[in-house]
Amino acid sequence: MSDERRVTISVIKADIGSIAGHHKVHPDTMAAAARVLAEAKRKGTIIDYYVTHVGDDLQLIMTHRKGVDSSDIHGLAWEAFKKAAEVAKELGLYAAGQDLLSDAFSGNVRGLGPGVAEMEIVERRSEPIVVFMADKTEPGAFNLPLFKIFADPFNTAGLVIDPRMHDGFKFEVLDLYEGKYVVLNSPEEMYDLLALIGTPSRYVIKRVYRKSDDEIAAVVSSERLNLIAGRYVGKDDPVAIVRAQSGFPALGEILEPFSFPHLVAGWMRGSHWGPLMPVGLRDAKCTRFDGPPRIIGLGFNITKGRLIGPVDLFDDPAFDETRRLAQQIADYMRRHGPFMPHRLGPEEMEYTTLPQVLEKLKNRFTDAEYYTKYVHVKLRGVVKEAESEAHD
Ligand code: F6R
Ligand code: MG
Ligand code: MG
Repeated sequence: MSDERRVTISVIKADIGSIAGHHKVHPDTMAAAARVLAEAKRKGTIIDYYVTHVGDDLQLIMTHRKGVDSSDIHGLAWEAFKKAAEVAKELGLYAAGQDLLSDAFSGNVRGLGPGVAEMEIVERRSEPIVVFMADKTEPGAFNLPLFKIFADPFNTAGLVIDPRMHDGFKFEVLDLYEGKYVVLNSPEEMYDLLALIGTPSRYVIKRVYRKSDDEIAAVVSSERLNLIAGRYVGKDDPVAIVRAQSGFPALGEILEPFSFPHLVAGWMRGSHWGPLMPVGLRDAKCTRFDGPPRIIGLGFNITKGRLIGPVDLFDDPAFDETRRLAQQIADYMRRHGPFMPHRLGPEEMEYTTLPQVLEKLKNRFTDAEYYTKYVHVKLRGVVKEAESEAHD
């Protein structure tokens, strides 16, 4: 295939500081980043770019011919974030420079703080894509919608009707804890797939491929900053790129799962379950209880590498009822206050500031003798009985 049709779309994002709390990116920081990308476009490093934000995350959407994981492109994004962070510092914005975890760039922004979703494709005659960007949630938030888009015939009519999609799709699932991945075929291995991705804090859909020809269909950012930094540094607000139409799911099939505001982890202090609310750009900011978690969807055509668009896909009354339902779910969840299941479970809370609070209480505990004397002894007996039964 001729090189001029080969193009890479890179979406790289970082929280480099925001106005009035973890709320919204300042236009001056976006302008600073855009200046860096404009210069790179002039020099020919990138073909095109679009700078935007969702909540407190600055988003760089770039097209180029350098492939994924290019040190030129990652270096460029790093420079843009640095410049934006300088402005954030000058303006005294909140958490200025937050996601730039290191001072030294070493060829790739992965592991340094920013989130990355990239795909290299051979441009079709018309190449429609959707870029999804979410705030106050984590990469696993895309598990449910991507499953619906690429594996659920009740969502995607094309899986049944369109012969080009009828064979199904392949899901690359990443185990964020072990740093391993597995590729599962749908529909044949759908139940295995669900067994993994139903745990979105650990197993994350990283890429989706069309089974008939291995064409890439979707990619998600999968960085988890807390696992990288070993401490709480936000919830790794994720981004995803999805290809649309003509043998891939139709635009409307891609948007359809977002009509259900499913519960995602994140929201206040990255520590709560809440509904994912699809919004237009004007509402791409987090307010109530630092949320609720929000997602925007921008549609583009890639034409000779140029980004034609965007269209603001959730800025539409068709999603009004979803937003209303999301508000009701937000009300319902909020009424649990600090209780699970609004607050995340202990395993996830490990990466927040809660362990510091629990540490303080450690020495206040004294032995509950009556408990150890009676209950423990009985419990041990039950366990022994069960063990001997198992051996019989
Ligand atoms: C969640 C988030 C916010 C902050 C919260 C407290 O991802 O960014 O909910 O966790 O506003 O922030 P600090 O500790 O900076 O006051
Ligand atoms: Mg922030
Ligand atoms: Mg954010």
